[in-house]
Amino acid sequence: MKKKLIAGNWKMNGSLAANEALIKTLLAGLQTPACQVALCVPAIYLAQCQTLLSASSIDLGSQDVSEHELGAFTGEISSAMLREFGVRYALVGHSERRQYHLESDAAVALKAQRALAGGVTPIVCVGETLAEREAGRTEDVVRRQLAAVIHSNGHCISEIVVAYEPVWAIGTGKTATTDQAQQVHAVLRAQLNAASPLADRIQILYGGSMNAANAAQLLAQPDIDGGLVGGASLKAADFLSIIASVH
Ligand code: 13P
Repeated sequence: MKKKLIAGNWKMNGSLAANEALIKTLLAGLQTPACQVALCVPAIYLAQCQTLLSASSIDLGSQDVSEHELGAFTGEISSAMLREFGVRYALVGHSERRQYHLESDAAVALKAQRALAGGVTPIVCVGETLAEREAGRTEDVVRRQLAAVIHSNGHCISEIVVAYEPVWAIGTGKTATTDQAQQVHAVLRAQLNAASPLADRIQILYGGSMNAANAAQLLAQPDIDGGLVGGASLKAADFLSIIASVH
């Protein structure tokens, strides 16, 4: 059976001092975890975190990756550059990137492709807004977002990680119910299975106000293979207890 993955997304939080304190507390409290663990940190701290996490079982992730290979793309960071800093995962298409940086489905698909080509595993984020959910369009939206990535990645699709993050649940304290989350995960699972015979190995994470109190129930759902954790990943005790809720 595939392992679950608990990935923290620090978003634009942290400082040299805070990162060191957080990672040292995490490493001190992390017994042999039953799951994979990763931290997606701001790009400027990748070098620091690579050092702090070396010789640990926690993998390093970035929060974005360029859709281009190299060249005149000011401000962008390529998958090859990420690899140089030991980065295993890159978030792509997080809703905050889609919303504030106008990343389209096509751009997200290219980023996933470029990450894979560079040896970085993309964590492809999909999710509907509250308006889309209320209009009954949840399944259409997440299927459309994932279809773009499937279309441009072909059989490599089995190498990605998917994260379902309902936009209305992000940072709001309004977690999706286990039924709501499982229902969408089942849709995504079926879509992936139809796209590749190897899709069973793909982990589908849930993200959106996951915390120490609700993690165990969410992670017990048949199609929820882990969590993408924002706010609670900034508090060592909370993140450790989410990790500990994986059996
Ligand atoms: P919160 O856990 O803070 O709701 O954030 C979820 C998220 O966006 C992780 O990528």
